[in-house]
Amino acid sequence: MTAPILECQSIVRKYHISPGLLGDQRTITAVNNVSFALKRGETLAVVGESGSGKTTLARILAMIDPPTAGDLLVEGKKVSPGRAVETDVRRNIQMVFQDPYSSLNPRQRISTILEEPLRINMRIDGRERGRLVAEMLERVGLGGGYSTRYPHMLSGGQRQRVAIARALMLRPKILILDEPVSALDLSVQAQILNLLAELREAYSLSYVFISHDLAVVRFFADTAMVMHRGDAVEMKSCAELFSSPQHAYTKTLLQASPRIDLAKIRQRLKTGN
Ligand SMILES: Nc1ncnc2c1ncn2[C@@H]1O[C@H](COP(=O)(O)OP(=O)(O)OP(=O)(O)O)[C@@H](O)[C@H]1O
Ligand SMILES: [Mg+2]
Repeated sequence: MTAPILECQSIVRKYHISPGLLGDQRTITAVNNVSFALKRGETLAVVGESGSGKTTLARILAMIDPPTAGDLLVEGKKVSPGRAVETDVRRNIQMVFQDPYSSLNPRQRISTILEEPLRINMRIDGRERGRLVAEMLERVGLGGGYSTRYPHMLSGGQRQRVAIARALMLRPKILILDEPVSALDLSVQAQILNLLAELREAYSLSYVFISHDLAVVRFFADTAMVMHRGDAVEMKSCAELFSSPQHAYTKTLLQASPRIDLAKIRQRLKTGN
């Protein structure tokens, strides 16, 4: 059996907060002993209310922040916290953030933003970089003329397409998507979700997909993990989670979400409207 593409073993992340100069230091556990295995080609959704630790976990998975304890394994290889991670391991995991406005440098042209990962990590000349950038822009639906623009000249949806393109420039195997459509209008959300589904197929990607929208999770993900105050309280296939939630918190979360109109969502994902 092949190793899971990404595995998280008892990951813990604590933050120390000093309330004031004279106050005692407080520690909060943002992620508490979370374990899961992501299979190749699988999409794992992470759901949970605000502050439950989703982004904290995402940043650990993307190796942006180290965990306080626990292990991360990429294709069966342990990534030790605090140690320099081999470039080829790091390249395999990329992250897309919620806000496409703040995640792109406003002073760089789209072409520069997309060329940067290539310039840092690959020994290829400018002409080849330009070719790869044009190809990727086309792939994310931004063919023709976008490469010379600056981020402020794009819509929110177009900007998120650029952020996705940037994440894919080094051909990673895993994308960590932290609420990638939450900041966008409903119709644009559907277009970006469709694009992500296409790219998942085209590049054989595995996704960790963080979302507040349980209706979207149901159609986009295979498995879902429910987080509550740093704990992973339930993890199972989406079909099972929605038909027979076990944990009291999952039930509350399902009840709190707007009534899921299946027909409407299918239509939304199909037409992009
Ligand atoms: N850099 C930090 N320093 C101190 N505390 C932090 C830091 N980042 C997050 N936290 C705390 O950790 C907890 C989890 O935050 P996190 O951002 O992971 O939640 P989330 O599930 O992504 O929430 P949301 O749905 O609002 O994005 C919160 O209590 C938050 O205040
Ligand atoms: Mg978050």
